Amino acid sequence: MTRVLSCIQPTGDVHLGNYLGALRNWVSGQHDAEVFHGIVDLHALTVTEAPEVLGKATLSLAAMLFAVGLDPDVATVFVQSHVTEHSQLGWMMECTVSYGELSRMTQFKDKSAKREAEFISAGLFTYPALQAADILLYDTDEVPVGDDQRQHIEITRDIAIRFNHRFGDTFVLPKAVTPKSGARVMDLQDPTSKMSKSATTDSGLISLLDEPAAVLKKFKRAVTDSDSEVRYDRAEKPGVSNLLEILAACTGETAEALATRYSQYGPLKTDAGEAVVELLRPIQARYHELMTDRGELQSLLRKGAGKARVVAAATLARAQANAGLLPA
Ligand code: TYM
Repeated sequence: MTRVLSCIQPTGDVHLGNYLGALRNWVSGQHDAEVFHGIVDLHALTVTEAPEVLGKATLSLAAMLFAVGLDPDVATVFVQSHVTEHSQLGWMMECTVSYGELSRMTQFKDKSAKREAEFISAGLFTYPALQAADILLYDTDEVPVGDDQRQHIEITRDIAIRFNHRFGDTFVLPKAVTPKSGARVMDLQDPTSKMSKSATTDSGLISLLDEPAAVLKKFKRAVTDSDSEVRYDRAEKPGVSNLLEILAACTGETAEALATRYSQYGPLKTDAGEAVVELLRPIQARYHELMTDRGELQSLLRKGAGKARVVAAATLARAQANAGLLPA
């Protein structure tokens, strides 16, 4: 059976990009494969938060993952720091990736540039090694992600190939899987930048917890361009194309087909906003219900970590043995 793994960081609210780019595929894939989904709190430590924030964000994200439709009886949902094998294999991955490879990662270059005047942790630099461990620990075939994670999956493959070459066949080579529409949802105010938790203002970001009125308002104010032709053209018309693609992801149609139905921007903005409101309505109701029983959420996460550990421990032991570490 195909093995699927993908993870999300507990930083900021889950947004429409996370949902359309990744979470939706996690849910639709859960019955056709053996799926593991991690809330990667150790990755979130690369940018420091007040200690009282991280635990709460982790629990809230767990509620959101179940609210969007992951079924705890089918999908293994776990917290990264609860499965210590991630850190253990992470170190071995750091010793398998080169300084040069890590220096070329666009995410590190972007994030460190944004944090110029702030503390830049070594963890931000070695982040892809831990991500490689997350993936390789589960003998993962497919990693459902948004477009921005492609480079991370590529470097994971390179690390796995190098380790297998040095120490013999140890890891399965994973591949990234991205959706047809929604792989790169852009900021509604700045449609040349991806929608991101680290955006400076939230007027271009749709949180999965935004009230309907706020969603409609953000779509109404979405930045488009100064002519008035509705056409799907990412390079020339990024704002309009983003609206078309969001609507396409909500309705299952293609952005090109939708474009032929509009002659003005206003109705497109309204329809995209309304489609997103309807998409979010049931998710929000389930989220609020799940958040009323935090004990149950913690117990689901404990169960998930137990299942994840069984698989992760076996892979770690194989990697350690192949690398020649003396058994304990
Ligand atoms: P994170 O937490 O930033 O995002 C979680 C998922 O959401 C996708 N995504 C988007 N998709 C479309 N449009 C957007 N604007 C958008 N923004 C985010 C991301 O591609 C991702 O799939 N490094 C990862 C977390 C991670 C991971 C892993 C992922 C750690 N270990 C192992 C896969 C496998 C990250 O920061 O995702």
